[in-house]
Amino acid sequence: MEKNVLLQVDHVWVERPGAEVLRGVNLAVGRGEVHALLGLNGSGKTSLALTLMGAEGYRPYQGRILFDGRDITDLGVTERARLGLTLAWQEPARFEGLPVADYLALGMREPERGRIEAALEAVALAPLAYMGRAVDATLSGGERKRIELAAVYAMQPRLTILDEPDSGIDVLCLADIMTLVRRMADEGMAVLMITHRDEMVGVADAASLMCAGAIISTGTPAEVREYFAQRCRPHEGQLGSQPWGSEAGGTYRRVVSEGVCDE
Ligand SMILES: Nc1ncnc2c1ncn2[C@@H]1O[C@H](COP(=O)(O)OP(=O)(O)O)[C@@H](O)[C@H]1O
Ligand SMILES: [Mg+2]
Repeated sequence: MEKNVLLQVDHVWVERPGAEVLRGVNLAVGRGEVHALLGLNGSGKTSLALTLMGAEGYRPYQGRILFDGRDITDLGVTERARLGLTLAWQEPARFEGLPVADYLALGMREPERGRIEAALEAVALAPLAYMGRAVDATLSGGERKRIELAAVYAMQPRLTILDEPDSGIDVLCLADIMTLVRRMADEGMAVLMITHRDEMVGVADAASLMCAGAIISTGTPAEVREYFAQRCRPHEGQLGSQPWGSEAGGTYRRVVSEGVCDE
């Protein structure tokens, strides 16, 4: 049975100066589905995220992108955002000096205090302690990351692309990210969760594996993790040093997630 598709990417090719970053990407994300996109560093994951958002310079020269059945290949960032596509960046944008509550309200169609509080609670930040705080350098990296995710949650997009939500020096605890991602899906929001850490895939309903600018496998999280272990590692040599280092040898090992909580 065909799943109820929200996002469909058909054979998308994207070229950047000096590099063909996407080479015929096919991908389908269902409504309210958590879809993990796994791939080594340099495999093209961020390029795909930027292409899906309609970022400048990432217009496909071949292929098309459908969102809720509508062809959005030629739409710009603002129009896509209006349709309900959101990208949380690897480096959260900072709105210096703005109170946290106002920052969250920015992306909400109808800002309301209850929703802002719920969003902060969803990322384990006490609303009373954070609503009035300024978004500035006094926040730790982990706090900023949480606030960024709370803003996405408050926005209630139809599809959220999280590009390596676990990256950064002070990062959010993996368990917290997964809880929020699951909650978004339970409330009907689809999430495309980009990661190079296979343990992140566990929270997903489906997963796809990206290698050298193309999706080479789609299936259950378990199937894709297995495929990642068997078929992607040979590309390591071409792509350079990977997060788990060469000491892992030929045998597949989980990427260790120690030290990911900043408190
Ligand atoms: N703006 C760009 N211009 C040229 N090459 C790029 C650009 N952005 C990314 N690349 C190259 O495209 C490939 C995919 O990069 P990226 O999408 O960032 O991968 P990932 O997010 O999976 O680590 C890499 O080889 C990278 O060096
Ligand atoms: Mg990336």
